[in-house]
Amino acid sequence: MWNPLIQFLRLFGLSSFFVMDRIGNFSNAWQQFIRDPHVAHAAYSMTILDSRTGSILFEYAKDLGLSPASSLKTITAAAALRYLGSDYTYETLLQYSGTIDTVTGFLDGYIYIVGSGDPSLGSWRYDETTTADSIIKKWIEAIKQTGIRKCRGIIGDTSRWKNKKMILIDGWTWNDIGQWYGTGHSALNWRENEFTIEVQPGSSVNASARVIAIKNPPPHLKIFNELITASSDDDASLYFSLDGSNVGYLRGTVSLQAPPDFNLRCAVPDSALYVADELTQALRTYGIQVEQEAIVESSEKENLTLLDIHQSPPLSKLLEQFLRISINMYGEVFVKTIAHETGQSSLFDAPLKILPSYINILLENNKSLEAVAITDGSGLSRSNRLSTYVLAQILFTLQNQSWFDAYYEAFPTINGIRMKSGTLLNTIAYAGYIIENSFVFSFMINNYYGETAPDMRKKVWSMLDSLK
Ligand SMILES: *[C@@H]1O[C@H](CO)[C@@H](O)[C@H](O)[C@H]1NC(C)=O
Ligand SMILES: *[C@@H]1O[C@H](CO)[C@@H](O)[C@H](O)[C@H]1NC(C)=O
Ligand SMILES: *[C@@H]1O[C@H](CO)[C@@H](O)[C@H](O)[C@H]1NC(C)=O
Ligand SMILES: *[C@@H]1O[C@H](CO)[C@@H](O)[C@H](O)[C@H]1NC(C)=O
Ligand SMILES: *[C@@H]1O[C@H](CO)[C@@H](O)[C@H](O)[C@H]1NC(C)=O
Repeated sequence: MWNPLIQFLRLFGLSSFFVMDRIGNFSNAWQQFIRDPHVAHAAYSMTILDSRTGSILFEYAKDLGLSPASSLKTITAAAALRYLGSDYTYETLLQYSGTIDTVTGFLDGYIYIVGSGDPSLGSWRYDETTTADSIIKKWIEAIKQTGIRKCRGIIGDTSRWKNKKMILIDGWTWNDIGQWYGTGHSALNWRENEFTIEVQPGSSVNASARVIAIKNPPPHLKIFNELITASSDDDASLYFSLDGSNVGYLRGTVSLQAPPDFNLRCAVPDSALYVADELTQALRTYGIQVEQEAIVESSEKENLTLLDIHQSPPLSKLLEQFLRISINMYGEVFVKTIAHETGQSSLFDAPLKILPSYINILLENNKSLEAVAITDGSGLSRSNRLSTYVLAQILFTLQNQSWFDAYYEAFPTINGIRMKSGTLLNTIAYAGYIIENSFVFSFMINNYYGETAPDMRKKVWSMLDSLK
């Protein structure tokens, strides 16, 4: 006997029945979502693929180019695993030039901190070994062991990447680049290239707010504090500074109700100088004389003598922090590291070249690049454009890479779903996997109206709930 249900199950499998039921429920949730007045003038898109076959289960405006915000990091993380490998580690060398007078302990030369891009050098996010204090201690010990009692100076060496300065990215805005999440990067990073300014409100509305303390300030810092006190409980204070400049402006408001530990996390203008200065100060405190102030150099030196090799945690660990905390600086460092290690592009062009060419390889050049405009490795750039179809296809394709487990493990779990979030002003994105239910998805909305990100996020979560 011909039975339509059996026929259906033979064609699509038992679970497909359940999958289509979910998709039906999702469609309802989607219809409700797009009827929201805050969404009425927005641009939005959703693609859901079957994680087993890659076929489209649901799509809305799947080919529309939208800002992916930090959901772009899913591609950066994949490229890093593909080209560097999950065990990849960064090495930072401590070396010196010249010779040591064995009687006086005078090194007639310089001590070099030679970076290769390690974004975790001096970071507090890992175990003891990556912290600034333990690295400085280790370096002082190595210098002491060699019998050095005095030297000419400490040099932050960025020669591996052949550039001296921090590198700014196309499409990053003034509002971003002074903040911790918009900090620059170079071959030599330190304390994730951020420092902290503690501020407190004045005694009444419109009174000047005060800078209480600056933790681990970069050298020669000059701050102009223009912060005033506001009655509202939403703080709108920002730190503005130029790449490479030691002059910063504090602007905006601090709430009367600001907590006692209220602080601003600010971008360090020159991370190589930052670490060289910290070592200089620490050596002096320890009683080792350093004649000159710290400097940065970017030309390669011959005949340096090795004092220490510092290794970063493996890439798999760095990726967990990258995807879960969404640290933009890591993304920029990863694309430059890939360019440097593979020679695919110059470091300058890396943000424009590395991810598009990887996407092209993954999607077998299926005209997918026409849907892609990428200018950074983090998603912070306002110039990035991507379609949800391309991103979902990428996530689908990655599933049978040999390193997929490490990739999947690095994803955060948000609202019970393995997905990476993205947030920019009036933009929210999510991309990830609901493997139990055979879904791979990408969602983006740009230009939604008048809601705070947390409010819009709740609506998106409740829509995605129907897929769980
Ligand atoms: C879909 O919605 C219907 C009606 O609310 C519900 O009975 C069903 O359990 C839902 N399906 C799934 C897979 O959640
Ligand atoms: C604070 O300054 C603004 C703008 O100058 C002014 O409109 C407001 O009345 C002031 N508020 C108080 C409480 O002084
Ligand atoms: C480095 O050492 C080699 C061998 O001792 C020597 O020939 C060369 O001139 C040195 N280079 C520099 C720049 O001092
Ligand atoms: C590329 O297009 C071809 C032909 O349409 C298709 O068979 C193939 O699966 C596509 N590849 C990817 C990765 O989407
Ligand atoms: C992924 O798996 C599919 C199905 O097993 C296979 O056809 C395809 O070649 C695989 N791709 C890669 C990159 O291994």
